[in-house]
Amino acid sequence: MTDKKPELSAAMKSKAEPRVFKKNPIIGTKFTIAVSSAKGGVGKSTFATNLALALKQIGCKVGLLDADIYGPSIPKMFGINEKPKSDGQKLDPIIKYDIQCMSIGFLTDQQTPMIWRGPMVTSAIKTFTQKVNWKDLDFIIVDMPPGTGDTQLTFSQEIKMDGAIIVSTPQEVALLDVKRGIKMFDKLGVKILGLVDNMSYFIGDDKKEYNIFGKGGVKKTATEFEKEFLGEIPINPEIGISGDEGIPIVEKIPDHKISKIYIEFANKIKSSFF
Ligand SMILES: Nc1ncnc2c1ncn2[C@@H]1O[C@H](COP(=O)(O)OP(=O)(O)OP(=O)(O)O)[C@@H](O)[C@H]1O
Ligand SMILES: [Mg+2]
Repeated sequence: MTDKKPELSAAMKSKAEPRVFKKNPIIGTKFTIAVSSAKGGVGKSTFATNLALALKQIGCKVGLLDADIYGPSIPKMFGINEKPKSDGQKLDPIIKYDIQCMSIGFLTDQQTPMIWRGPMVTSAIKTFTQKVNWKDLDFIIVDMPPGTGDTQLTFSQEIKMDGAIIVSTPQEVALLDVKRGIKMFDKLGVKILGLVDNMSYFIGDDKKEYNIFGKGGVKKTATEFEKEFLGEIPINPEIGISGDEGIPIVEKIPDHKISKIYIEFANKIKSSFF
């Protein structure tokens, strides 16, 4: 018997070494930020749209990329019904409220389900990141679909991402997914800018605070994983109503107390880059 370890064959070595992906920047923007959460329905799209508008309010030039291929929300939340123009090579984003927007929902009938395999999703994301005439932007905010699937993987491995914001409700079942989301971005080397606690509480007509989904869970998770806790957004029906109307609350009522919360988030994000 000998202690000498067997040499790895060249093939085994190449398998053992992590694959290095070439990360393409999105041309036309300085920074790309994902709004994510492994859980569905926690308010990612609502946060992404309002954050984009809040960043605009504090003087940034912003794009909004709807990366939810199976369930795009931006057309509805921004009230966009037009199709983007193309010169045969690249698509022009649709500009609404001074935000450059792109979504698969601009290209398809909104009621038609996207029955696509993973590689088709990856190809759509490559089009949206490499074949759109994004122009002179400080930030592109990417509204991610729920989960830890093809979309997250494509963005993390093939696109230059400058950070991810993780949105969650404080409910245990949502936090489980958040933990998975944190581990995914950590593993893929995407910096997590911080965690947001959405639908944190509800203030009733009696002025009492109701913690419908529990309290403090997102902050606790942020501490546990040594991530920044960015803040809380209460449940407020005005948020849902304005989203459904196609004018997110930050655009509709800029001095609403909820809009001011989004502007605070925008200031935090801006100051981590400029
Ligand atoms: N703070 C809030 N107060 C009240 N309603 C909210 C709040 N945040 C989000 N909503 C509402 O919750 C619902 C889900 O929000 P949204 O579509 O943004 O979630 P999502 O995480 O993007 O969902 P999906 O995983 O399907 O993409 C929407 O009806 C939205 O208007
Ligand atoms: Mg969404």
